[in-house]
Amino acid sequence: MIKEIKDGILYFDGCSTLKLADKYGTPLYVVSENEISSRCKEIRESFLDKYENTKAVYASKAFLPLAMCKIIEREGLGLDVVSGGELYTAIKAEFPVEKIEFNGNNKSLDELKMAVDYGIGRIIVDNINELDLLEQVCQEHNKKTRILFRITPGVKSNTHKYITTGTKDSKFGIPLNEEIIYPAVDKAIKSEYLEFAGFHFHVGSQLHDNKSHLAALETSLALMKYTKQKYNYSITDINIGGGYGIKYTQKDKPKSLSYFMDPVMNRIEEFCKENDIKRPQVIIEPGRWIIGEAGMTLYTVGSIKEIPSIRTYVSVDGGMTDNIRPALYQAEYDAVIANKALKPKTQNVTICGKCCETGDVIIRDIDIPDVESGDILAVLSTGAYGYSMSNNYNKNVIPGVVLVKDGKDQVIVKRQTYEDMIRNEVIPEI
Ligand code: LLP
Repeated sequence: MIKEIKDGILYFDGCSTLKLADKYGTPLYVVSENEISSRCKEIRESFLDKYENTKAVYASKAFLPLAMCKIIEREGLGLDVVSGGELYTAIKAEFPVEKIEFNGNNKSLDELKMAVDYGIGRIIVDNINELDLLEQVCQEHNKKTRILFRITPGVKSNTHKYITTGTKDSKFGIPLNEEIIYPAVDKAIKSEYLEFAGFHFHVGSQLHDNKSHLAALETSLALMKYTKQKYNYSITDINIGGGYGIKYTQKDKPKSLSYFMDPVMNRIEEFCKENDIKRPQVIIEPGRWIIGEAGMTLYTVGSIKEIPSIRTYVSVDGGMTDNIRPALYQAEYDAVIANKALKPKTQNVTICGKCCETGDVIIRDIDIPDVESGDILAVLSTGAYGYSMSNNYNKNVIPGVVLVKDGKDQVIVKRQTYEDMIRNEVIPEI
């Protein structure tokens, strides 16, 4: 058990969360290495080992300290990056470049040059500007680069609108209008400097059903057939993105990875057979699914404000600076008072952060035991898009990250200092 309760205290991957809070201070991100490994194992068992010619790349935007690159490499997965900064981090961690792919809807010239220079595995071309720019860059570097087209499949997903990415009205991907996608395919196939591998889509995040993946898949299959018929060109890759949902609260009923992958693989096999096409490699890009439940955030409870007949606000020493998801997406979380993990839930409170924003609420209306100032509150499933979206609003420092495994703990990201925060600031000479 990754999370367990011993003597009324919450343990995470064998470590007492109280001891961690005491040793490192709060707020603190804690990440379980065993949970990450068991997720990667499930990816191997229910996808990579089960189906030939498949690949999984971790969507690094979810959480990317150098240590995470090392874990992902050891687990045998590739890496998806979306900026020069993520690529730089991966390179610094000596992640094998051929296993890196580059997504993003507005890659700069410098980022494309960097990617081509390093000889990155695949670039997922998002739009026609990028296609032209990349071809020039490759020509200048005299290097051939493997590309996929990210398409906009025009499907709706059942999730928050800010994390829906496959609808027609989207900033991501190439629209499927024939006058746009067909010339792009033509150019990619004929280009001397681009190796056209196939099609990519990503329909959205935190999904608990496979409908949008399956609907989007049809558009990629149709394009695969088009390229075969028109050019006798066999694509080698179909990338179906990430988006597989996890458990934040009891309301979430996440599905297994097989629930997503089996119908996708069956449909691709069937389509290829029907159309006499060699089945391309199938690639997935999970982010949240790998790291989300592997993380938790520890806070110390501070002021407690009871507004008679309205609500009780319980303030913690972090907030939207270390977890902006509730403010951005009305995301819901569950929490445990780490030092009262077995105490009965006696009251309903709202957990808020310390930022100067009314929207700085971490959990609205949670049932919880009697809470006191000084208690340690563990907010669960914060591994994905917590640290990676952290910020310095109100000049709060970004918490450190501790990796735990089998009762051992080590810092993988140091807590920021006040000095770190002002390091790049310059007082002008007036
Ligand atoms: N591939 C592409 C091209 C993506 O854009 C994304 C996420 C993923 C893979 C990984 O998706 P995942 O498996 O993690 O759902 N900040 C938001 C999530 C934004 C996701 C953006 N793209 C959140 O905190 O919910």
